[in-house]
Amino acid sequence: MTSSGADQGRSRFLRRGQARKKNMIFDLTEIPARSVYKLLLGVVVPRPIALVTTMDDQGRVNCAPFSFFNLVSSDPPIVALGIGPGEGDANALKDTWRNLDPAGDFVCNLVDEPMAEKMNVCAFPFPAGTSELERSGLTPHCGVKTRAPVVAESPASLECEVTTTIRLGPASKLVLGRVTHLHVRDDLVEPTRHHIHGEKLRLIARMHGSGWYARTSDLFQMARLR
Ligand SMILES: Cc1cc2nc3c(=O)[nH]c(=O)nc-3n(C[C@H](O)[C@H](O)[C@H](O)COP(=O)(O)O)c2cc1C
Repeated sequence: MTSSGADQGRSRFLRRGQARKKNMIFDLTEIPARSVYKLLLGVVVPRPIALVTTMDDQGRVNCAPFSFFNLVSSDPPIVALGIGPGEGDANALKDTWRNLDPAGDFVCNLVDEPMAEKMNVCAFPFPAGTSELERSGLTPHCGVKTRAPVVAESPASLECEVTTTIRLGPASKLVLGRVTHLHVRDDLVEPTRHHIHGEKLRLIARMHGSGWYARTSDLFQMARLR
């Protein structure tokens, strides 16, 4: 669209001040990174949580939760992970970052209510090489293809191979992974129809601020218009 086309299009919109809804507008290029973080993470909710397992060159397993996580394509099956800087230092690299650089594999273990506190232990900034799985009491199981283990307690785990990494900032990157295998707890799936009983999953999601989470137990159904 040409800029005059865009101007014409915009001229049909209500101008600020005419709108009934009063919005506060933040220019994210003008405010500190910490404020951008607080504002965006406050409104982009709820976010699913992947408890991500990776393995380093010495065979040590790392496990950390990520809510900059989602399925971005099903054909091919691709998930995205956003890895930010380490705690307290804008340039410090997280262990997950190092283990997925330049390539590698990882497992996204979805987090349900019974796993919540153990997931929270895995978010603690332990020194590199500490086993978050041991510290939290979670159980590693062998994946089909990944070096990184599947977390046995998770209701659903996605084995992934890194396809693309995009550096977004000094210590921020986007990792895209192709899902090669899906593990789902027996009681949650009807295998002939490939139907997942979503209402039984009891996944939790990350909300605003520090320490707020949502349950997925308040569901409603709405049919698509045809
Ligand atoms: C629920 C939850 C979600 C999180 N999501 C992210 C995220 O999306 N990206 C990120 O960089 N850190 C995220 N964190 C923080 C990391 O889990 C934390 O920094 C962890 O210690 C990193 O571990 P690592 O250095 O072993 O990779 C999250 C923490 C919690 C509790």
